[in-house]
Amino acid sequence: MENLLSVPIKNDIYYIGTNDRKTELFEGMWPLPKGVAYNSFLVKGEKNVLFDLVRVNTIDSYVEKINEIIGEGEKIDYIMINHMEPDHTSSIKSILEIYPDAKLVTNKKAVAMLNNFYEITDNIIEVKDGETLELGDKKYTFYMTPMVHWPESMVAYEETTKTLFSQDIFGGFGTLDGGIFDDQIEYDAHYHEETTRYFINIVGKYAAQALKALNKLSGLEIELICPDHGPIWREDPKKIIDIYTSLAKQETVDGCVVIYGSMYGNTEMMAEAVARGLSEGGLKNIKVRDITKTSNSYLLSDIWRYKGVIIGSCSYDNNLFPPMDYLMTEVSHQRMKNNYWGIFGSYSWSGGALKTLKKYMEDGKYDVLDTQLEIQGAATEEEIKKLIEFGKEMAAKILNK
Ligand code: FEO
Repeated sequence: MENLLSVPIKNDIYYIGTNDRKTELFEGMWPLPKGVAYNSFLVKGEKNVLFDLVRVNTIDSYVEKINEIIGEGEKIDYIMINHMEPDHTSSIKSILEIYPDAKLVTNKKAVAMLNNFYEITDNIIEVKDGETLELGDKKYTFYMTPMVHWPESMVAYEETTKTLFSQDIFGGFGTLDGGIFDDQIEYDAHYHEETTRYFINIVGKYAAQALKALNKLSGLEIELICPDHGPIWREDPKKIIDIYTSLAKQETVDGCVVIYGSMYGNTEMMAEAVARGLSEGGLKNIKVRDITKTSNSYLLSDIWRYKGVIIGSCSYDNNLFPPMDYLMTEVSHQRMKNNYWGIFGSYSWSGGALKTLKKYMEDGKYDVLDTQLEIQGAATEEEIKKLIEFGKEMAAKILNK
């Protein structure tokens, strides 16, 4: 049958992924303005093998794609489960109803999850780290990549085609709109930001494990990367490997993000003065973010990438402004290590914001500037000058002057 919905990739490997433009938030918390693709692959041959599945809300078009390749009524012999998160496995029970004889290939940790999530206990082949399975003319070796993104995560390397089925690793947000390969899209313009945000939001806190996984895979000769999200890499797989390696190392750029929380504009005015100081200090890459208008998804992404981070918050009920408190809690989960931090606070009668920010700085053992301004009400002219100087101090630290 002609491939109208599915896309041939190489040597009987087909792309059969789906696009989700309806879901607003990935994992219920990360915005999806450009949607997300659930990639899945079918290797047709002596044995028909599926690689990961799709989220159940897109199953109809998924099954049509499988039928297009193998024909309705034909069987799937194996389903490789590289990762158990439901964005890939929530369709599994429906798929097993259509292909009841399919054997599930996965690892010990995923076996327990199959039972916990879906009460599936039969027809499972358990593989170990480094184990190879020969299926027809294809030879798959499995490598465990714990915590990238879940404890049971693993990848599969197909030797004859030099293909890496990498599950979440090398993935990113954004649907695949027509083009699915790196050479068919404008990656830098349309996907790079979304890959970065995906990594930082989803995998960021496990960056050390991600680096370990990347090192583990570095000995493989890879010609094709088939991740579970984002483009398929066939022209320049090294590009996405380098992008992921840089992110896993939390390599920062010489710039500063100023994130403020303000109820009536006084703290905002302070943030403007700090940004002015950053600029006067010679810094060009400056971003000012209003926490009430920006999802933590983007703020965490900025913090990960900018060498300088300045947090300014008003006080609320003798404490930190609640949206800022939520952000700082998220930051403390991320274990970022390559930033210079600056903090300032404002209050109306008895403080609270700066005290809590200091506590976050101490607990996280962050490299924070000693200058920590706390201002009552609206900043005076003298205080504005101090805020500008504070910005200059941060610029000098970032630029190593
Ligand atoms: Fe795409 Fe961690 O699931």
